[in-house]
Amino acid sequence: MKKGKKVSIIGAGNVGATVAYSLAMKGSCHEVVLRDRNVEIAKGKALDMSQAANAARMHTVVSVADDASGMAGSDVVVITAGSPRLPGMSRDDLLMINAEITKEVVADVKEHAPDAIIIMVSNPLDVMTYVALKESGFPKERVIGMAGILDSARMAHFIHEKLGYGAGQIRASVMGGHGDDMVPLPKFSTVAGVPLTDVLDEEEILEIVERTKGGGAEIVGYLKTGSAYYAPAKSTALMVEAILKDTKQIHPCAVLLEGHYGHSDVVSGVPVALGANGVEKLFEMTLNEGQKTKFAKSVQSVRTMIDVLKEKNFFDK
Ligand code: NAI
Ligand code: 2OP
Repeated sequence: MKKGKKVSIIGAGNVGATVAYSLAMKGSCHEVVLRDRNVEIAKGKALDMSQAANAARMHTVVSVADDASGMAGSDVVVITAGSPRLPGMSRDDLLMINAEITKEVVADVKEHAPDAIIIMVSNPLDVMTYVALKESGFPKERVIGMAGILDSARMAHFIHEKLGYGAGQIRASVMGGHGDDMVPLPKFSTVAGVPLTDVLDEEEILEIVERTKGGGAEIVGYLKTGSAYYAPAKSTALMVEAILKDTKQIHPCAVLLEGHYGHSDVVSGVPVALGANGVEKLFEMTLNEGQKTKFAKSVQSVRTMIDVLKEKNFFDK
């Protein structure tokens, strides 16, 4: 019998395990279930984290699902399963490999946790969210991609680095896809309510915008063998918590657009309210012509990748 809130995480690698750890340390749910193709490593991490929860006097138990049925009764399923880009692999090869992995794991979610809300993390994020939507057949409110919170947090950090004050009081805004064409929005960014455009000059803001777009690559440049996971995991945990606690807080998330901002049948990052039903409201901000053009370019990048999958009949198999 289900005892309380349950979160399953498919892919117990750097991001997945750190999401689990973040939830366990705050006692955000009763149960975290890890599922990974490498069961032994997942078991070791689950044991370690359950012991850490005891050290922290938290009630969360972290376990491993040997079988997909172990995800039954999940309120939220986070998907971080994916393959890294290996030498000789093109972007399209990686797209196909991760799409196949997403298809496989989403089929398990559909069978064993049909009422769950899916939070997609695997890259390319917006396309994988689209794949999860199509393959699950879940209502669009229950399939949500994580990227906007991360990209906004990166921008906030870079603003703080430039300003030297306002830490924790910066509200940065980024919309669009989680790629090179993401759209940081300085005009919608503030420091304790003061517009960013009043505290930094144009050149400084441009530097922040460019650094935000390359925020993931900057960290890969240092780590060499992997990508960022602390900020991605914290951003994912915030989404999980908003859903479990039904906070209705507004966050930028990747969701299906159906005529919103003039685009349809594509996933992109926009502000939404998150609650017990997943996406409870999608907000359409008034964009100027320049912002609209940038957003359209970002949407088109995602659509081009979806089209690659369609040309390969991915959705028909
Ligand atoms: P990782 O390589 O550390 O972990 C991936 C895990 O997935 C591995 O443990 C692997 O065994 C597992 N896995 C692969 N195929 C599986 C399957 N079919 N079933 C179950 N488990 C499977 O990678 P990391 O750093 O955790 O990143 C995970 C994904 O998240 C990547 O695609 C990465 O690009 C993406 N990412 C997305 C971000 C975003 O903002 N949306 C931010 C950071 C990472
Ligand atoms: C990031 O932005 C790789 O998408 C990942 O760090």
